[in-house]
Amino acid sequence: MNDLTLQILQRLRQADGFLSGGEICREFSMTRSAVWKHIGLLREQGYLVEAVTGRGYRLTATPDLPCDAEVQSFLETRRIGRDLTFHETAVSTNLLAKVMARSGVPEGTAVSADEQTGGRGRMLRRWVSPAGVNLYFSLILRPAVSPGRIPQIPLLAAAAVHRSLSASVPELDFRIKWPNDILVGGKKICGILCEMESEADIAHFVIVGIGINVNLCEMPEEISDIATSLCLAAGRRYSRARLLASFFNSFEPLYDAWLEGEDLAPVLPVLETHSYLLGRTIEVEQFNHRLRGIAVGISPAGELLLEMDNGERKAVSSGEAHLSVE
Ligand code: BTN
Repeated sequence: MNDLTLQILQRLRQADGFLSGGEICREFSMTRSAVWKHIGLLREQGYLVEAVTGRGYRLTATPDLPCDAEVQSFLETRRIGRDLTFHETAVSTNLLAKVMARSGVPEGTAVSADEQTGGRGRMLRRWVSPAGVNLYFSLILRPAVSPGRIPQIPLLAAAAVHRSLSASVPELDFRIKWPNDILVGGKKICGILCEMESEADIAHFVIVGIGINVNLCEMPEEISDIATSLCLAAGRRYSRARLLASFFNSFEPLYDAWLEGEDLAPVLPVLETHSYLLGRTIEVEQFNHRLRGIAVGISPAGELLLEMDNGERKAVSSGEAHLSVE
């Protein structure tokens, strides 16, 4: 949406009731037919704008889409999420973001979709991505840090998701499952897939892909035992645009602090206080073996600290963690 249409939308939002056509003309130095053109553009994007002769225009409904025009009005960031491209349908926002990143778009650029036809999860799993209900988005980062620090980004993103979801839905107890899931009541509500393109000593870009189950009130059978949504857990629907802006608003200061620092210190208290695993006996599956122990902490570098059965402590840097069933 162009800048002027966006500004008129903001004025309509702020107006208490009708905003006269004359006022819009004066404020934006435009003719009545230009105003009419912008109102038409808003209607095309799903905004309901009532027009009454002698009174003016009134915004009566906004589309529930995580699109640029909706997200911008809640955004408080300088660069993260400022440039957002929305697709009604995409194969995967991570795939789109990769193409955009390769073409040189700046850090903070993001892409969201109403639906994904090939949503991807970690370990080549599928991410269920139906239309009209959930959040699917990818953020492009260009962190000027050593490649060794890149694996900390999923934890940073998890801390930001935690902060934004907890602020938006304070009645739910969101838990962070190392390295990058958010759970409610033991079921997954958000997944994070980070992908990067790098050379030996520099990361060209990192894509942070996030899926949040928001208003999906009937979980598909295949995932109903392991997944939930905000709507199922809290019993009401949420604005996806507000949630997306809230994530960007949470992420930017954490990311800036991380870039300036050396490790995950700015988010360690959140990661540990709201951990799903800490204090529990867990198993971590790695490529060809499995570790078992009690999760006792997270290191500043983002490793999961395990106390093994023989009392030895191990720092685990990657893998899939599960609660131990024995
Ligand atoms: C996982 O838990 O396995 C990670 C899931 C990540 C899903 C998101 S949805 C937006 C982005 N696009 C994708 O194809 N995947 C990520």
